[in-house]
Amino acid sequence: MKPSILVARAVFPEVLSQLAQHFEVTSNQDDVLWTPAQLIQQLQGKQGAFTTGSERISQAVLAACPDLKICANMAVGFNNFELDAMTAAGVLATNTPDVLTETTADFGFALMMATARRMAESEHFLRAGLWNRWRYDMFAGSEVHGSTLGILGMGRIGQAIAKRGAHGFGMKVIYHNRSRLDAPTEAACGAAYVSKSELLQQADHLILVLPYSPEAHHTIGAAELAQMKPTATLVNIARGGIVDDAALAAALNHGIIAAAGLDVFEGEPKVHPDLLTVPNVVLTPHIASATMSTRLAMAQLAANNLIGYLVHGKPLTPLNPQAVKA
Ligand code: DGY
Repeated sequence: MKPSILVARAVFPEVLSQLAQHFEVTSNQDDVLWTPAQLIQQLQGKQGAFTTGSERISQAVLAACPDLKICANMAVGFNNFELDAMTAAGVLATNTPDVLTETTADFGFALMMATARRMAESEHFLRAGLWNRWRYDMFAGSEVHGSTLGILGMGRIGQAIAKRGAHGFGMKVIYHNRSRLDAPTEAACGAAYVSKSELLQQADHLILVLPYSPEAHHTIGAAELAQMKPTATLVNIARGGIVDDAALAAALNHGIIAAAGLDVFEGEPKVHPDLLTVPNVVLTPHIASATMSTRLAMAQLAANNLIGYLVHGKPLTPLNPQAVKA
């Protein structure tokens, strides 16, 4: 008998067809956002789950779904997983690293450029019919080339952004990370390690790419924003909650920093109301990895993790291999 799996959100039809060759598939192509109780109900009798960042796999879900063996997240981030509880319950967790690195780095860089060069703000002005003359300082932004790019969180995506800045735009690149990179990797990225305070004080453009954890909550709040240059920009493509969005909106309103670009938000898809009224912020709906080819690659990797583990006993990108007893 084929194992049963749940695909918790809408996904590419070809990925569903691939999964159906190996599993009894319950899918959610209507893309209903289930409550935790509905998720538990849907997971009954399922050995595998194809999840996204919107499905929280909590201790309560694990306790109520004893057949579950694997949750394959279609995301590189996995803060929707209670990983320790999954390991304790013997449930394997997988994510989708590598396949989205360059696409996400492209977006981070694009958001930084749009923020520095005031693209959204000036487009709104034009659409509102307010453009009636040229002016020497109209929407004058800040330089990108030759400026100092700061990166907080120097994993794969941070490194890919660093290379774009150092090698493509002649930027001085500085970074801070829990652990310092080795010298050859720093050289390849054209990046220099600095303390978090130095990063905040020196960056002209600061991009956040660190994973979310409870310890990373509000890594950037009022105190950190106050250390930044008044001309600086801040970009968050990491996770909502890493920035204190209320403090950021206040900082933007009071000229503590010049501008921000945000792809992720605390409590998304809700957005802090103050951010919606601040002009000098570019807002996008968590789309940093959203090209069709990258999203397909992510979905295929999640599917291949389910097939790899439930059919062949070998997941491709496990997060907690220790969950599986030898
Ligand atoms: C990821 O892969 O973590 C992206 O943020 C999409 O959820």
